Amino acid sequence: MSSGRISLYVAHGSRMMRSDQGEVLIDISPHGNRGCGKRMAEVFGSELNRNKKYVFGAGSKIAVFTWQGCSVNLYGKPEVAYVSKDTPMLLYLNTHAALEQMRKQAERENERGPRVMVVGPTDVGKSTVCRLLLNYSVRVGRRPTLVELDVGQSGVSVPGTVSALCIERPADVEEGFSVQAPLVYHFGSTTPGTNIKLYNKLTSCLAEVFSQRCEVDVVLVLDHERLYNELKRDLPHFVRVVLLPKSGGVVERSKECRRDTRDEKIREYFYGFRGLSFYPFSYEVRFSDVRIYKIGAPSIPDSCLPLGMSQDDTQLKLVPVTPGRDLTYHVLSVSSAEDGEEGARKGIVESPVCGFIVVTNVDTQAQFRDSDVGLASELTGVTSKRLTQGGPIDPHLTGTPNSSQSP
Ligand SMILES: Nc1ncnc2c1ncn2[C@@H]1O[C@H](COP(=O)(O)OP(=O)(O)OP(=O)(O)O)[C@@H](O)[C@H]1O
Ligand SMILES: [Mg+2]
Repeated sequence: MSSGRISLYVAHGSRMMRSDQGEVLIDISPHGNRGCGKRMAEVFGSELNRNKKYVFGAGSKIAVFTWQGCSVNLYGKPEVAYVSKDTPMLLYLNTHAALEQMRKQAERENERGPRVMVVGPTDVGKSTVCRLLLNYSVRVGRRPTLVELDVGQSGVSVPGTVSALCIERPADVEEGFSVQAPLVYHFGSTTPGTNIKLYNKLTSCLAEVFSQRCEVDVVLVLDHERLYNELKRDLPHFVRVVLLPKSGGVVERSKECRRDTRDEKIREYFYGFRGLSFYPFSYEVRFSDVRIYKIGAPSIPDSCLPLGMSQDDTQLKLVPVTPGRDLTYHVLSVSSAEDGEEGARKGIVESPVCGFIVVTNVDTQAQFRDSDVGLASELTGVTSKRLTQGGPIDPHLTGTPNSSQSP
């Protein structure tokens, strides 16, 4: 193809996403006299190497983009594959160039670089544009930070978290950004609306860690003219609001697809990319060795609240959880807060997490054991830590299905 984009959608296989099912491989080669340079094509800002085959698993939706033209060889059966010349890539590249100008100016004036927020409706390519801009910026020698505030489809940690990740190299074409030492806060639900007070608290915690306020100076609005106009009207004048079109290749994802992506993200946390890198193990923990909390008490009528307490306080309240069978197949986070007295407890809400575990069995008869699965490196010292409860997950994730206990 000459310059433009090829979009590939790999048929969605079984929910287990076996790596030998529904895969598609691609490689690239020069196209006629064009595209003989080193940089022939990229996937969301990550350059493709010649003479290398890239594998995309079931459910993948990707676009290969070329500036000068190249041939893309496809092996396997994608659900859809087409070539298109209609692409907003030039606008995205211009956005990167404008941000780079702002960084240069900030350097000259000894100020901080731009802080960009990407907003827009569901499935317009927001995460993809973030990946693209991060890739472009890291490719020109910058060290950007990705702040992930999407608790539904987090690209950094497990679903139900907000996080920050320092990007030091471009995303791997197949695997995405290398997730090393992210800063993660556990929200515990996939919709901010379930506890907006906690959501705001955690985003402020993230901002504080960077010793900066959450003030953004550029807002990129994807494919939503009304939102663009409203933000332009309502935001302070120093915030630049830019309207960008979405790529025609972005695919709408069904509820099931989103749920599968979330499950896959949890599986990836415990087993690694394509289930190949990590070997989680299970072990038993005595009830007395762990303290489990839920953040947020159920709301009660104002008239029933203790004197001086507001509804807001209940949303950030730590509620001790008695281990019971209903905890089975729930993801718990291991808090980094120090163990201690009442005062220290408060720290749990505002402390980042050190890792996650999945409860695979609760033996209330024996009264002394839980059975947990986790990542070895993350779990050392779990017994002295506090755990915070998140949502239930599919039993198959742990590899020990137990039909009588399915949530
Ligand atoms: N140009 C493109 N061609 C093909 N697929 C694309 C393209 N851009 C994005 N996609 C795919 O479309 C899907 C949705 O994109 P993305 O996740 O970036 O959207 P989003 O706006 O962040 O969605 P959400 O609202 O769920 O956060 C992803 O699977 C992504 O890989
Ligand atoms: Mg997204």
